[in-house]
Amino acid sequence: MLLTASFVLHVLSAALWTGATLFVVYAVLPRAVDGTMRPTTFVDGAHRLLLITRWTGLVLPITGAYMIWALYTPLELLTSTTRGWLVLAMLTLWGIMNGLIEMGVLRMRRELDPELGWGTYMAEGFPAERVDGSVPASRLAAAGRPYLLASGGCAVILLVDAALLAGGVPW
Ligand code: HEM
Repeated sequence: MLLTASFVLHVLSAALWTGATLFVVYAVLPRAVDGTMRPTTFVDGAHRLLLITRWTGLVLPITGAYMIWALYTPLELLTSTTRGWLVLAMLTLWGIMNGLIEMGVLRMRRELDPELGWGTYMAEGFPAERVDGSVPASRLAAAGRPYLLASGGCAVILLVDAALLAGGVPW
């Protein structure tokens, strides 16, 4: 029962996070880069992606750790089986993609406030109220673009990884 609940929460979080990231990369970022989107609209989208990243950043490791405990003990199964390596890749990509989104949004906010400290950023993210119109969306987008594109790449690889596990790759 607990394992089934973990799978449900894990897959819902995974879909929300990877879907939101790919939507921002495909539909939002290009409009900010070409300057046809207002800075507040773009920043609101980036901030909401950051919030999804942080909430799912709690749910994914908690449910994932439980699933490892339930399915991959003894822990040697993680390094001695194909499915174990896929789970380790999932964990690693999760860490990299988290770092990329956090860094990307931080870089954007520092375009407006170069002195911004890490603590304030972690507490506030990048709320749209912080946008004062002094910096165009295209400049904010240029600062975050490499990080967002790389996180979109991670999202695709993560989905392939998850599909291999779901498709029943043998141990
Ligand atoms: C802390 C990071 C993560 C850990 C520790 C983790 C761990 C796991 C484990 C142990 C499983 C069960 C594998 C099996 O059925 O044999 C699993 C399944 C799954 N994970 Fe993750 N995961 C993490 C992050 C992610 C992320 C970021 C995604 C985003 C795509 C994701 C998507 C999935 C999906 C869709 C499944 C279901 C696959 C299946 O049917 O077996 N996970 N994960």
